[in-house]
Amino acid sequence: MDITIRLEAPGDWRETENLTREAFWDVYKPGCDEHLVLHKLRRSAAFVPGLDFVACDGARIVGNIVYSTARVVDAAGGSREVLCLGPVCALPACQKTGIGSRLIRHSMAVARDIGYAGVVLMGNPAYYGRFGFAPAEQYGITDHEGKCQYYLLAHELAPGRLQGTRGRFCYDEAFHAKKEELEEFERGFPPKEKHVTATQLRPAD
Ligand SMILES: CC(C)(COP(=O)(O)OP(=O)(O)OC[C@H]1O[C@@H](n2cnc3c(N)ncnc32)[C@H](O)[C@@H]1OP(=O)(O)O)[C@@H](O)C(=O)NCCC(=O)NCCS
Repeated sequence: MDITIRLEAPGDWRETENLTREAFWDVYKPGCDEHLVLHKLRRSAAFVPGLDFVACDGARIVGNIVYSTARVVDAAGGSREVLCLGPVCALPACQKTGIGSRLIRHSMAVARDIGYAGVVLMGNPAYYGRFGFAPAEQYGITDHEGKCQYYLLAHELAPGRLQGTRGRFCYDEAFHAKKEELEEFERGFPPKEKHVTATQLRPAD
């Protein structure tokens, strides 16, 4: 494969929603809702079009990464802006060939050049550690309920940029996909069977 990375164009949206559905299907739960999250995020004011990249093998899109702005809200009600990474995915047949890594490194370099302070995400520490992500609690960042979570990770885009950014991580509404909303959205895709799989098991919170 000869992979190139470029900004996503509106004409790619349907293909990346399909790709996201294929990549996340049955990975974290039977079926998935990340394609709906992506669909909703693009219509949100928090969406960052300048960090919406696709990885292409020729004309075919084989990976996608998007970001939205989020806030870390402190006890006094003050808040700071951070980036929320995700969804990020690679086409199942092309996974583990470096596409995800290239999308993450490329987009974070652009985000740093734009001047964003840091990136927060919910993901597997074993994967994101290689890009410099550490447990968010090291920065004093908790989930929106004030709890420390092993999967909440943070990365400052330049040394010290997340200093003083403490509090609850509050991300965009688009991440809350309702059951009925998903059922309606799913009608626009080919039927796909859901399964319980080993990847859906994770340590207790
Ligand atoms: C996660 C994902 C984007 C990584 O992209 P990729 O192109 O497959 O991965 P890369 O080739 O860049 O990196 C491969 C490495 O990541 C590891 N890896 C891939 N997905 C992983 C995951 N979910 N958890 C832990 N490690 C993972 C591989 O085991 C491999 O490790 P190694 O380098 O030590 O052998 C892709 O596998 C994917 O789309 N997965 C399904 C959707 C998903 O889980 N997205 C991320 C949600 S937080």
